[in-house]
Amino acid sequence: MRGPRKRVVVLISGRGSNMRALIEAAGDPNYPAEIVGVISNRANAAGLDFAAAAGIPTRVIAKADYPDAASQDAALNKALAEFRADLICLAGYMRLLTQTFVERWSGRMINIHPSLLPLFKGLHPHAQALAAGVRVHGCSVHFVTFEMDSGPIIAQAAVPVLGTDDENNLSARVLAAEHRLYPLALQLVAEGQVRMEGETAIVSMAETAKQPILISPVLETGGADLEALARFTP
Ligand code: GRF
Repeated sequence: MRGPRKRVVVLISGRGSNMRALIEAAGDPNYPAEIVGVISNRANAAGLDFAAAAGIPTRVIAKADYPDAASQDAALNKALAEFRADLICLAGYMRLLTQTFVERWSGRMINIHPSLLPLFKGLHPHAQALAAGVRVHGCSVHFVTFEMDSGPIIAQAAVPVLGTDDENNLSARVLAAEHRLYPLALQLVAEGQVRMEGETAIVSMAETAKQPILISPVLETGGADLEALARFTP
């Protein structure tokens, strides 16, 4: 492995299943990043318990404790400095960060969104996908810019949408793909194989590199029947 592992802080608001996927990936000493802290804006986020049980220091920086968003983000910056964070992963962090904060961490903060961006930004992306009638849905990891769910895309995973899908089983299929995609995307950023330049994500790895920037069960199975894809689990 080249250079020291990147120090990563994960920001959550709830369940924390993506945080958990990152913690598990970073359990491999050859993974190029380590999770050095988890910060939640909600004291009752279930993910905090998992992180603590994994021996990772946690903090709660909640809206109610600060007069405004700028001072909440200043507290966030202070905690990140204490953790000596190199990179931030947003994982279900349900709060808009201030422009000052976003600019400070430009190119060093990434987010996962459960849609194939730029489609279906914001809330209820699975309902949006079903309403639009798309046959392919998925998730994206992107660099964070001030405009929500709009930064340069690092990697994507595609899953099929079946005629029988409702929001629940579609979101479960996408979530399984998220748990594969986020550790992969963090690896690419931590290794410097994908970096942000202006409004673009620059990919410097060889086309033939072992790590893909697209995960697709359709490609993996050579287009096997959709029933099998529906049952796809990582
Ligand atoms: C995920 O679907 C993520 O893509 C979105 O919020 C959800 C968080 O789930 N941003 P979890 O807390 O990681 O389980």
